[in-house]
Amino acid sequence: MFEIGGVQACKYVNLEIAEGEFMVLLGPSGCGKTTTLRCIAGLEKPDNDDAIWIKGRNITTLPPKDRNLAFVFQDTMLFPHLTVRKNISFGLDMRRTLDKAAIDRRVQEASKLLHVEAMLDRKPSQLSGGQAQRVALGRAIVMEPDAFLMDEPLANLDAALRVEMRTEIKRVQRKLSTSTIFVTHDQEEALSLGDKIAVMHEGAVQQVGSPHEIYHDPANLFVGTFIGSPPLNLFEGTLRTEGSRTVVASALFHLTVPDGIMKKKPQGDRNVRLGIRPEFVTIGPEEEDAFPVQVTLIEPLGSRTLIFLQAEGQEIRSMVQGESPVREGETVHVTLQMGRAFLFDPAGERV
Ligand SMILES: Nc1ncnc2c1ncn2[C@@H]1O[C@H](COP(=O)(O)OP(=O)(O)OP(=O)(O)O)[C@@H](O)[C@H]1O
Ligand SMILES: [Mg+2]
Repeated sequence: MFEIGGVQACKYVNLEIAEGEFMVLLGPSGCGKTTTLRCIAGLEKPDNDDAIWIKGRNITTLPPKDRNLAFVFQDTMLFPHLTVRKNISFGLDMRRTLDKAAIDRRVQEASKLLHVEAMLDRKPSQLSGGQAQRVALGRAIVMEPDAFLMDEPLANLDAALRVEMRTEIKRVQRKLSTSTIFVTHDQEEALSLGDKIAVMHEGAVQQVGSPHEIYHDPANLFVGTFIGSPPLNLFEGTLRTEGSRTVVASALFHLTVPDGIMKKKPQGDRNVRLGIRPEFVTIGPEEEDAFPVQVTLIEPLGSRTLIFLQAEGQEIRSMVQGESPVREGETVHVTLQMGRAFLFDPAGERV
């Protein structure tokens, strides 16, 4: 737990990161990502008896410089009067444990890895935003830390460069096998980078899992709706037992719930929300379990098409591969692939 002036910035954070793992902390603004990272870095102290361990060492009370961690933040803060070479070697120069030849060797290796070898004698003002961020990364790499801590390091870059640099960061991390904690509020960045993603909300970790688990098996409504673009479709319904089967009923449908998607059998009727991702809403023939909808809008997205549908005043999104099989204004039938649906109780927990 971590408290500042009565505000609990982090209420419940319990994270385990395997050696060499790429862990992403993902969550909306103000959920406590930076505070968590600053606690790990030693820039803030956790309250209570909370402890931080790295490689079998309890580092909770160690000053930041003794933790052997390296940071990359959103604002690069390169020293403007130093060359790129001196900016990269800065931490090593300060530490004074390596001789000049060893430092030069590390700077060479890092700059080769990051494709900034040709710029070593330039000043930061002669670099583009992406190059400056590579130099900041180089400064962290030459320290050969136990872990990299990165707080939105790509946030200041334009969209195309962000995507390019995120591939670069993953490539470098794979090559060095250095444990990494990477903070972002961008779900696409999190899904593409993380071996594991910890989704945070209001100071608490909601779920830790692989990108696949987080997307296809969210722990609760928050994770289900925060992840996914276009977002999860949600339907209000009632869950009840009818003979030997469990059904979910709403104004639009009356569907059998496959056993696999429930954590436990419901007792009596209960209100639920059914969540289903747009790619599992299928447009098809009029058959059992299909219900009629009107096509309101079509958004071609290149390899896929997003189709907006409407029924009983509710908007439903369907994502199809390739071109749209339907036209705007048409009435068509959809089925929900119930094996891929999530059921949430009124408190937002999975049923
Ligand atoms: N120094 C401080 N004093 C008081 N409250 C703070 C302080 N730093 C952070 N907080 C509060 O703690 C909570 C978590 O903040 P934190 O900076 O960790 O969020 P974040 O997840 O990194 O958000 P963002 O995505 O906007 O960077 C917020 O409610 C914030 O207002
Ligand atoms: Mg932050």
